[in-house]
Amino acid sequence: MAENLIDLRSDTVTRPTSGMREAMAAAEVGDDVYGEDPTVNALEAEVAALFGHEAALFCPTGSMANQIALQLLVPPGAELLCDADAHVITYEMGAAAAYGGITSRTWSAVGADVDPDVVAGMIRPDGYWAVPTRAIAVEQTHNRGGGGVISLDTLRRLRRVADEAQVALHCDGARIWHAHVADGVPLATYGGLFDTLSVCLSKGLGAPVGSLVVGAADKIERARVIRKRMGGGMRQAGILAAAGRYALAHHIDRLAEDHAKAARLAEAIAPFGVLAAPVRTNLVPLDLTKASLDAPTLAAAARAEGVLISVLGPRTARLVTHMDVPDPAIDQAATTLTHLLRA
Ligand SMILES: Cc1ncc(COP(=O)(O)O)c(C=O)c1O
Repeated sequence: MAENLIDLRSDTVTRPTSGMREAMAAAEVGDDVYGEDPTVNALEAEVAALFGHEAALFCPTGSMANQIALQLLVPPGAELLCDADAHVITYEMGAAAAYGGITSRTWSAVGADVDPDVVAGMIRPDGYWAVPTRAIAVEQTHNRGGGGVISLDTLRRLRRVADEAQVALHCDGARIWHAHVADGVPLATYGGLFDTLSVCLSKGLGAPVGSLVVGAADKIERARVIRKRMGGGMRQAGILAAAGRYALAHHIDRLAEDHAKAARLAEAIAPFGVLAAPVRTNLVPLDLTKASLDAPTLAAAARAEGVLISVLGPRTARLVTHMDVPDPAIDQAATTLTHLLRA
């Protein structure tokens, strides 16, 4: 996080705590490409167990974890269905097409309000006349959807849709921990609904690096090959895995504090009519259509007063709470933003 600034751009800006750094320094390591890093192996076993799956694979980034999963589920020339705002097709630099030869087709961006009937209606069967659908991807929580949480009921209906059509279901679970804390759904319950998940340690959980692909053992064996092919085979990665294990042990329950901070920010700015959606987790989406300032102007003015926010479009912006923004800084940011919005 930039010094002396209140950084609400993303939950990726956190720095490892001293406890986490101690765990990293003390980590037992080995060469993970040989499968010999005990800390990576322990992290992978732990995350697989958390989600009730057989295996998991440690990857450098969430994007790589997602793209490995997509390559596992969708062969070249076949199709992925996801929403028009999904991270996998918005922010991953065309990787599904560039590396996987995967066609993507989208349903309208509705954040976490996925309609399983709409998805069912889009699925195309195997055949030689149209691109066959092989997987559906959803995002929990939804990044561009303002941190919205897909309900368990919707996910169960999506699973039925996928089963009936015999297509796979992937979860981009970069912030699935937030959904678990917000809705109280056990991680293993989420895990049981998906063929593959990617879960991230370096967003709200505060580790410096790391995501995992989670799934069945045979899939994760294939994932290991794809990871190496994509240049993601790491050596003494236990130093990073130790940070992830520390994050799992210490930083999941505390996400409720980040949700409360986001709710406080939302409450402060709601009277200005700029909340794009109800705040469920640690993201506060802003719709500035009716505000006097557009998003770049608001961001520049806030920066001048020491508060960093993300610009997502001409009239859309985002605030994100995380472990490196203490309560007094939230109050200060709320004062700054309300002052600017009132002007
Ligand atoms: C929902 C979601 N998925 C995946 C990612 C990708 O993570 P990474 O930046 O580690 O590639 C992000 C990053 O912000 C994200 O928000």
